[in-house]
Amino acid sequence: MFRDGARKSMWQAEIKRYQSVFSTDQNFDVVIVGGGITGISTAYRLQLNGLKCIVLEANNIGFGTTGGTTAHLNDFFDTTFKEAISKFGLENARLLAEAGKEAIHIFQANVSAHDIECDFERKNAELFAIDDKQVEELENIYDGAQQVGYDMSYIESIEFPIRFKKALSIPGQAQFHPLKYVRALADEFIKAGGSIIENCLFESYDETGGEVVIHTRLGDLKTKYAVFATHTPPGISLLHFTTAPYRSYAIGFTLKDDDYPNTLGYDLYDAYHYYRTHVLNGKKIIIAGGEDHKTGHTDDAGACFARLENYCRTYFDVDEIQYAWSSQYFEPADGLPSIGILPSSEGRVFVATGFRGNGMTFGTLSSAIITDIITLGSSKFEKLFNPKRFKPTAGFTSFVKENATVLKDLIGDKISMDRISSLAEIEAGEAKVVRYEGSSYAVYAEQSGQLHILKSTCPHAKCEVRWNNAELSWDCPCHGSRFNVNGKVLTGPSTKGLERIE
Ligand code: FES
Repeated sequence: MFRDGARKSMWQAEIKRYQSVFSTDQNFDVVIVGGGITGISTAYRLQLNGLKCIVLEANNIGFGTTGGTTAHLNDFFDTTFKEAISKFGLENARLLAEAGKEAIHIFQANVSAHDIECDFERKNAELFAIDDKQVEELENIYDGAQQVGYDMSYIESIEFPIRFKKALSIPGQAQFHPLKYVRALADEFIKAGGSIIENCLFESYDETGGEVVIHTRLGDLKTKYAVFATHTPPGISLLHFTTAPYRSYAIGFTLKDDDYPNTLGYDLYDAYHYYRTHVLNGKKIIIAGGEDHKTGHTDDAGACFARLENYCRTYFDVDEIQYAWSSQYFEPADGLPSIGILPSSEGRVFVATGFRGNGMTFGTLSSAIITDIITLGSSKFEKLFNPKRFKPTAGFTSFVKENATVLKDLIGDKISMDRISSLAEIEAGEAKVVRYEGSSYAVYAEQSGQLHILKSTCPHAKCEVRWNNAELSWDCPCHGSRFNVNGKVLTGPSTKGLERIE
């Protein structure tokens, strides 16, 4: 299968195409836009609840972050229970803990119901503090967990060859193969009467008179409800101000000493490193991740892999790096995801975004929340994750301000960008945003010399794209739209590609 970057993730050998018949004559109960774990889990659950559903995917199932995740399934989160207590109160922090348990329960129930072979394994997680600052953070994590009644305990040793000062063990976490799982669930969705259309780009929608009309490249569909399982909603949304896109890097490597850890591991750096072992085609591989940064905010994304590899080589007896890939996720202003009715909607359009590094858990949980709201009228998690909850509090205002300042600088790229008088100035293998004859262009020259010339202004809200040399893509730093060298949309919110200049 294909993914939203030039590098192959560990999971991409899983190939399967889906193509139900697209017909504008049918009316649906729910149209789900996006075929990752959120979209497929939600479609499957809604269909089982008797609703007629269709999934529209712009590329192939698992093309986005689901094909590039490291597939940790946790019920503790990047937002700690301690932080949740201080921001949302003890009761809400307890509800957050319950949400995590519910997500893993749903996942396991799906696996058991259909004997899904997706390498699902329950694992203990180990959190370890490397320095005094991290020890303080670890103690806070423990304290918050105690307050919400969440099980974790201090341990004397960890399974990773990393020097640490203090560590915690957390039982009952899990790992799996994301595409085997999503593909199998997609099969069950189809068996239950659902439809999947791949290569169907969403363009826009209208919500009027008790229905939603979805406009796609293939035609229009009428539906009672729509779900944007697109990681960030397409079009312009308030949620683009309350979430920020980030890139994370992963490598998969073998060991010379065969001493593979049997737990999930996390240090407490900001950004943290994470580790786990996966057996792929009979071979053990350690997956390590980290080096996260805001999308478009590095001049050399490729160097992030080098840093991650060097860091791993400091501790592990690395034999061979087998995989290296990156993926995108969204950080919310207050630390919690937005799952529920889209802020601009009259009540028929749903969204699920802002998952931080816990996309597999929140993607799965979204299926229950959205299904409950549509079929029962409410969900017990509805208020906690309400996409309309953001108030202009101090934290929220500084989040927006910080992003706005950075974005202003990036939009300022237009003024400071290189001016060239001839396209011959772009060397083979080089990619640059340049001013040429009064306009700005994103130009990539292949090693063969062939030029790919695009207008460099993102169609979404007019920021300037930046080159991602790790995935050979043009990434927009404002809200995370990404485009390939031909200008095709890899990830939204833009629903239009970069204009190609022949
Ligand atoms: Fe919003 Fe590019 S993604 S301007």
